Amino acid sequence: MDRPTVSPGRLLAATMALTLPAGAVLAAGVAAGFLTPLHGLMGYVAVLVLTLPLLRPHLADVAAVNRWTRSLAQGADADPPVLRRRPLDDAVAAIAQLRRGWQNDRAALAASARWHEAVFDSLPDPLVLIAESRRVVRLNNAARAAFGRDITGRDLAAILRDPAVLEATDAVLAGEAGRETEFALPVPVERNFIARVERLDGAPAEGTTAILALHDITTVRRLEQMRADFVANASHELRTPLSTLLGFIETLRGPARDDSQAREQFLGIMFEQASRMARLINDLLSLSRIELNEHSPPSDRVDLVEILDTAILAMQPLAAAKTMTLVRRFERDSATVLGQPDELAQLVQNLLDNALKYGREGTPVEVVLRSAERLPPAAAHLRLGASVALTVTDRGEGIPREHLPRLTERFYRIDTARSRKLGGTGLGLAIVKHIINRHRGALAIDSVLGQGSSFTVYLPLAAEN
Ligand SMILES: Nc1ncnc2c1ncn2[C@@H]1O[C@H](COP(=O)(O)OP(=O)(O)O)[C@@H](O)[C@H]1O
Ligand SMILES: [Mg+2]
Repeated sequence: MDRPTVSPGRLLAATMALTLPAGAVLAAGVAAGFLTPLHGLMGYVAVLVLTLPLLRPHLADVAAVNRWTRSLAQGADADPPVLRRRPLDDAVAAIAQLRRGWQNDRAALAASARWHEAVFDSLPDPLVLIAESRRVVRLNNAARAAFGRDITGRDLAAILRDPAVLEATDAVLAGEAGRETEFALPVPVERNFIARVERLDGAPAEGTTAILALHDITTVRRLEQMRADFVANASHELRTPLSTLLGFIETLRGPARDDSQAREQFLGIMFEQASRMARLINDLLSLSRIELNEHSPPSDRVDLVEILDTAILAMQPLAAAKTMTLVRRFERDSATVLGQPDELAQLVQNLLDNALKYGREGTPVEVVLRSAERLPPAAAHLRLGASVALTVTDRGEGIPREHLPRLTERFYRIDTARSRKLGGTGLGLAIVKHIINRHRGALAIDSVLGQGSSFTVYLPLAAEN
């Protein structure tokens, strides 16, 4: 800070004011005849000249302090001036202390604002601060991610076109109480949200008057939909064979009462339909039992080689009926996992069953067991070198790519009529999926249209003991 100078005019005026009493005494001396006017004048000039240098530094200090306090008042953050004389030191020290207090308060306020912003930004639900006329003041990270861009400063309608949400926002901005409404964001993937608009009274950061909080309920809605679909599907699957059964019972009691040939034929169909219902109920029960235990991993030591050999043997007749062969290619003599033997047998049986059902007649089905050499993304939780891979490969028509992610959903079938005709329930792969989940494994499906499909199950190997 450059040293403030005192203008000569001000300095002179101040000195004259200060030396006024001396001047008066000299004037009185002249009036009384003790001094000649010339001596009186010379004496006053002498007093003036002696006083000037004494006063000068004080005036400079006052100017410096003035300048400093003025700059502080204007919001600048200047250091206190260095004074030449003592009298103003206390005042300067007091002001400097006040200034330090302000500085600390300001730093604390800034830290607190940063903290609130960090909290706002890190909340998982999308939040939008809104000012009058629906202007967006701020979005948190979740909101930017949900909307795919930042629209600070623009109308909320630029990202949210849902009329109910806009209407709720307008109403709250106009002074109404908080409101809640549900809406869907169609892009990039459809998501369902509950939107809550609340008034923010008394905290008008940049004019903020309302906060819009979105809560993602996509998963909840999807689960509700799945449950409803499941009940509808299961009932439908049971009703079809049941109506057939009832129809044939009517016929056997009525028109075909004495027709022994028809009776034989109808009883055959009835047996088939009843077996179908029994299979469906068995699969449904299996599924719910496995799901119930899914959170508790099984702890028996089971050798997959034994399970596979038993299953292959049991499926031999089915293979032979389609002139198919089950080719066993094991690269390990044993593969011990912690598992539940019946569930593992059911898993293998379902995969072999599908391969034989959907593989072409006369083709082989290959069963490969080896140490996992690479892990697909779904198996990222497994350890290479401590996992086993079981692959069942068929030579069938293959599965169109778009169906792959949904194959393990209950009752999901590419061709429902064909699956039914082959005796399928549409629950096999759902059961497989849940058994794998319970065993902390992973499933990968690869398929080439026209060539065939392979289903690979990754399971963690049990630690040796
Ligand atoms: N190896 C396979 N080759 C071709 N499609 C298959 C294969 N395995 C399963 N699928 C398809 O996946 C669907 C679901 O299989 P799954 O749950 O076992 O039911 P299901 O065999 O009773 O129809 C089948 O209907 C079929 O469309
Ligand atoms: Mg099946």
